[in-house]
Formats: sequence, structure tokens, C-alpha cells
Amino acid sequence: MSDIADPLFAPKGVDLEHPSVARIYDWFIGGTTNWAVDREFGAMALKVFPQARMLAKTNREFLRRAVRYCSEQGIHQFLDIGSGVPTVGNVHEVAQEVDPDSRVVYVDNEPVAVAHSKILLEQHGDLTRHAAIQADFLDHANLWDQAMETGVLDPRRPIALLTVALLHFMPPETGAEGSLEYYKTLLPSGSYLIASHGTNDGVPEDVRKQQAILMEQYRNTASPVFFRDRAQFTALFDGFDLVDPGVVWIPEWRLDDKSPMTEELVLTPNASCGFAGVARKP
Ligand SMILES: C[S@@+](CC[C@H](N)C(=O)[O-])C[C@H]1O[C@@H](n2cnc3c(N)ncnc32)[C@H](O)[C@@H]1O
Repeated sequence: MSDIADPLFAPKGVDLEHPSVARIYDWFIGGTTNWAVDREFGAMALKVFPQARMLAKTNREFLRRAVRYCSEQGIHQFLDIGSGVPTVGNVHEVAQEVDPDSRVVYVDNEPVAVAHSKILLEQHGDLTRHAAIQADFLDHANLWDQAMETGVLDPRRPIALLTVALLHFMPPETGAEGSLEYYKTLLPSGSYLIASHGTNDGVPEDVRKQQAILMEQYRNTASPVFFRDRAQFTALFDGFDLVDPGVVWIPEWRLDDKSPMTEELVLTPNASCGFAGVARKP
């Protein structure tokens, strides 16, 4: 969304001195809502972990496939937490390809991401069906109330909740599992949980070494990374029914011909360093 990527759009009080995960990720996947401090951090990250950009794109592709899948199952409403800076392939754009009346609330705790989401929706969205709010995943009651107060979502009808590339910024001691449980309890029957998550469990040894250096670098951002293993990730879906193919490496989740896959990822999907899954509330 290059037309809205202007530092003038940074809301007052936003920290432009330190790198932000939302804006680094934006830079990785080809967006322009990022500042020199983010690009410098991203370039440094690519030096120790050259595949970071490709993995960010692979994750974004999973998001597209999962949203499309849910839309095809008749899901009409999406709550995208940790939605990031709106760049390529936003949830409302994917969903409305299948369901032109779909409804989406974007949530992020990063003020720049939220400000740009609002501008994007004002320019290209439909404010009766789309909204963006600033809230923290861990502040669950407040987040849910704010999301429902937008009037965009009907809490009595199934909702797909997205926590895509989000929970690895919240180790268990933050109470992330409890917050997720709060949302899962409030979601009506027939709702979906869509999640992906960074890991070092089962990752090739050489990649693990690079990951360890990258994690050190992320300690310098406001959002250090914490890996969950396969069992911890799978447990996030407890009480929901995982849809086929279950918990898999990110590039393996219902791959379609639109998803760009490097030969390396086809041969070694565990080099994607992330798990993905989608599950339905019975
Ligand atoms: C790596 S980006 C993922 C963006 C998008 N979900 C995707 O996968 O394409 C992670 C996003 O989570 C946001 N985030 C991190 N911690 C959060 C929290 N506690 N509550 C809400 N958002 C958070 C960051 O600001 C960032 O925009």
C-alpha cells in the first residue's frame, strides 16, 4: 500500500527510534510502511537468517489459504489479532473474493499498524463491514469488547479467529494460553481458529543455529521471539477439531498452485521454522 506509506501517517507518540516487529515484517513481505530503523534491523536479520523474507512470505501465503478455506466453509466473519501493517493480501481482500459481504475486524497493539489499517479501510474498504482497533491480545476482555463494539461482528454467528505469526511473541508466562482460552470460550459453535507459530522443534540443525542468532537480535525489539514446540502449538487448539491435514509445517498446509514454494521448502518443509493449523469449534 505504497500510497499510504508516509511517516506523516505515524500517529503521535509512536516510537520511530526502535525497530518494530510489525514494520520489519511489512518490509520482509514487500510493504512500504516501515522506517529506516526497521529496514536496518531487517537487513541485519537477513545477514544471519537469509531465508527470513521468504519465510515471512510463506507465512502470509498460509494466511491467504486458511482465510480462503474458512470462507469456502461459509465463514462470514473474521477477527484478525496481530494483523500487522496492511500490505499484500489482507484478510478482507482474500475473504471477499469468496464472500463479497464478509466482515473483518483487524487488531494490533502497534499504533502504526492500526493507523495504516484504518487509512487502508477508509480508502479501499467498507466501514460498515471492516474495522481496525488497537488492543493487546493479552488484554483479552478489553480486546473482545472493543472488537464487538465496532458493530462489525455478530458474536452469535461463527467467527474465524486469526492468531497468525502472533503467539511466538508471547511466552506461556505472559498468560497467552489463558487469553486464547478466553477467546475460544466466547466464540460460538462452528467458529474457527487459524494459527501459525515459529518454532525450533524439528528444524534442521544448521537452521537452528541461525535461528538462535536471530532470536538474540529480536531481543532488541519490543517483541522478543519465544518458540513453542509441536506439542505446545498443538495444545493451542484443544477442544477444537483440527481440519485436515492437522498441525503441519507452514508450507504444507493445503498448498495450492498460487503459493510460491522454493525447492528447498518442498524438500525440507521443516526449514520453514513454523507450524500451522486450522481448527473448528464443535
Ligand atoms: C509477524 S506480524 C504478523 C502479521 C500477520 N498476522 C501475518 O501473519 O501476516 C506480528 C504482529 O503481531 C503484533 N503483535 C505482537 N504482540 C501483540 C499483542 N500482544 N497484541 C496484539 N498484537 C501483537 C505485532 O505488532 C505485529 O503486527
